[in-house]
Amino acid sequence: TRSNRAKSNERKRIKTHKLVLQYIVPCMNSYGLCIVDYFLGVRIGERVLQEVRRIHQSGHMQDGQLVSQKQGKSKDIRGDEIAWVDGTESSCLNIGYLLTRMDKLITCADGRLDKFKIRGRHKAMVACYPGNGAGYVKHVDNPNADGRCVTCIYYLNKNWNAKEHGGLLRIFPEGKSYVADIEPLFDRLLLFWSDRRNPHEVQPSYATRYAITVWYFDSEERAEAKRKFRDLTATSQEGSSS
Ligand code: OGA
Ligand code: OGA
Ligand code: MN
Repeated sequence: TRSNRAKSNERKRIKTHKLVLQYIVPCMNSYGLCIVDYFLGVRIGERVLQEVRRIHQSGHMQDGQLVSQKQGKSKDIRGDEIAWVDGTESSCLNIGYLLTRMDKLITCADGRLDKFKIRGRHKAMVACYPGNGAGYVKHVDNPNADGRCVTCIYYLNKNWNAKEHGGLLRIFPEGKSYVADIEPLFDRLLLFWSDRRNPHEVQPSYATRYAITVWYFDSEERAEAKRKFRDLTATSQEGSSS
């Protein structure tokens, strides 16, 4: 009934609020990264996995791209295949639900995560490491203030055994003497700062490894990045017309 649904939604909202305020916010501000297991539950997690498998099997994925593309070299740096999804496609409705749930966490946390004022995000990147030993060498997602502040990754791999399958995400928190090794486990959500505080690598993967990544924007840094980009574009146009 309508009132039962209203009550269930209210319970969910309170649960999200608690998770964010008691765990995600303090964990992010202390460590710069944070793991939430059993994020969607098995039933919905499996539906998301099904959609990701279909995207992969449909042959619609492309090689992972690099910002500064050196022809032919990118495979040595990142060996994943990717597809961009906005979650409204009829074949991606459960991915859409995942994005809604991520957005709710971020909206709830906004104003409490470092100095950031989070407004908007990138489309979702569905990524597959095919299991041929490919990984992604050590890098920073946002080294040059392009506006991305939080990286949010949802993993989809059942029965993952890192000893056998590799595929660990290793984060090297800046200025710390430890590393964080994160297994890409089914229904696991990971958040971390996208900037230079978190260099990370994906270790060689020997089984099919699926993940969905979303980057959230800091409003000020994003606006500044767009201004810079616009100025650069204007300069080069002036240059070419003179
Ligand atoms: C896609 C897709 C597979 C399918 O390319 O976005 O989801 O479900 N294709 O048919
Ligand atoms: C990336 C990345 C990590 C992972 O795509 O930038 O670092 O665990 N992915 O898939
Ligand atoms: Mn990365």
